[in-house]
Amino acid sequence: MNPIKVGLLGLGTVGYGVFDVLRRNQEEIQRRAGRGIEITIVAVRNVERARQRLAGACEVVDDPMRVVTDPNIDIVVETIGGYDLTRELVLTAIANGKHIVTANKALLAVHGNEIFAAARANNVMVAFEAAVAGGIPIIKALREGLTANRIEWIAGIINGTTNFILSEMRDKGLDFDVALKEAQQLGYAEADPTFDIEGIDAAHKITIMSAIAFGVPVQFDKAYVEGITRLAAIDIKYAEELGYRIKLLGITRRVASGIELRVHPTLIPGKRLIANVEGPMNAVVVQGDAVGATLYYGKGAGAEPTASAVVADLVDVTRLHTADPGHRVPHLAFQHDALSNTPVLPIDEVTTSYYLRLRVADQTGVLAEITRILADLGISIDALLQKESREGEQQTDIIILTHQTQEKHINTAIGRIEALPTVLSNVTRIRMESLN
Ligand code: NDP
Ligand code: HSE
Repeated sequence: MNPIKVGLLGLGTVGYGVFDVLRRNQEEIQRRAGRGIEITIVAVRNVERARQRLAGACEVVDDPMRVVTDPNIDIVVETIGGYDLTRELVLTAIANGKHIVTANKALLAVHGNEIFAAARANNVMVAFEAAVAGGIPIIKALREGLTANRIEWIAGIINGTTNFILSEMRDKGLDFDVALKEAQQLGYAEADPTFDIEGIDAAHKITIMSAIAFGVPVQFDKAYVEGITRLAAIDIKYAEELGYRIKLLGITRRVASGIELRVHPTLIPGKRLIANVEGPMNAVVVQGDAVGATLYYGKGAGAEPTASAVVADLVDVTRLHTADPGHRVPHLAFQHDALSNTPVLPIDEVTTSYYLRLRVADQTGVLAEITRILADLGISIDALLQKESREGEQQTDIIILTHQTQEKHINTAIGRIEALPTVLSNVTRIRMESLN
């Protein structure tokens, strides 16, 4: 059988990784897919540089529209990134009957519903394993391996850049900016690194997983997003003292009143496996009602790990290319007419535990006033740490770990605590998850 023909959009970190892995493993890939998979045309901005890298292996153009309208192409692999141009390219490719493989979580989290509908109307597949947690086959696990389960919650370290930064800050005492520069040099960071450090990239990924886990449309605009830029080294240190690690987690959970969808720095017990995921590594815990907790760990970014997922999708699409579209795995795991409108809860209605750090005057009765405010709001204290005030200073830090309460109650408590004359600065609040 003739090889299936692939058009590649972009030849950067991921695009070149795809080219390289396909070339290196072509014989085994062909044995698995049942036919060869051949990249015949590549679109980039800098044509000369790409031609040098590819050394005549395929045609190189600077107009990506040529790739998505090329009648010889069966599958378009999108590795350009961003929303606007890629939305247009992907929708044009779909209208031209081409299957899509993409690593672009931003595109799918924002325009996924439109893209999946267009794909259905044109009987083509959109595959996106690389869009979430790079090389970890978490989309395959959620859509297929765990399909018997009612998924209860997912929690993941799904941004390599921020996990790398937090690890470098904790282990080596590096400054935030130095660690971010390193992550950029290593190819982990997004073109715009604010997507990483402000939690947006992780929110794109948890949005996609939430849709697949609970059978709801992708709803990035409803996600609560908080990054690591306001995290202070002192809180990383206090968390350690209390037996916790701080990780940027993407969390989605099904509760009676709806779905939680959130990204924020989170204290997790140091003894959890996921608390020990360091550097650019990713890990996702999925809690299913039948299987219990399962953990998926691996490289979430970088050329070859991401290419591993893209090429796996290429093999899947090649195998299913001629299958009846009705027999393919639905894009969001649930049949499109069976998606539900379960609401995504505003952060005020989320229930979790909290780490609070307060700078207070070292005076009689301060602690009693604070605990009274918490008690009045029904917030129960799980642990409390008061640091000795430094010599010559009449102030100190108090750290309080609460039991579970609704975010709106903790917000009211923080407002009242900050109004006390003995509380000397804003209260630092970090959410906590036990993940058991
Ligand atoms: P890069 O910036 O390394 O590569 C982007 C590529 O797209 C470059 O080859 C660039 O061309 C090309 N390109 C950009 N604009 C155009 C255009 N207008 N026309 C034609 N080509 C264009 O990005 P990455 O490879 O890092 O990321 C690609 C996608 O993969 C993103 O969606 C990202 O979120 C996702 N991703 C990235 C991971 C990673 O580890 N880097 C991991 C998982 C997903 P030129 O070479 O000429 O500049
Ligand atoms: N910027 C992303 C990260 C790339 O750091 O995880 C992988 O999606």
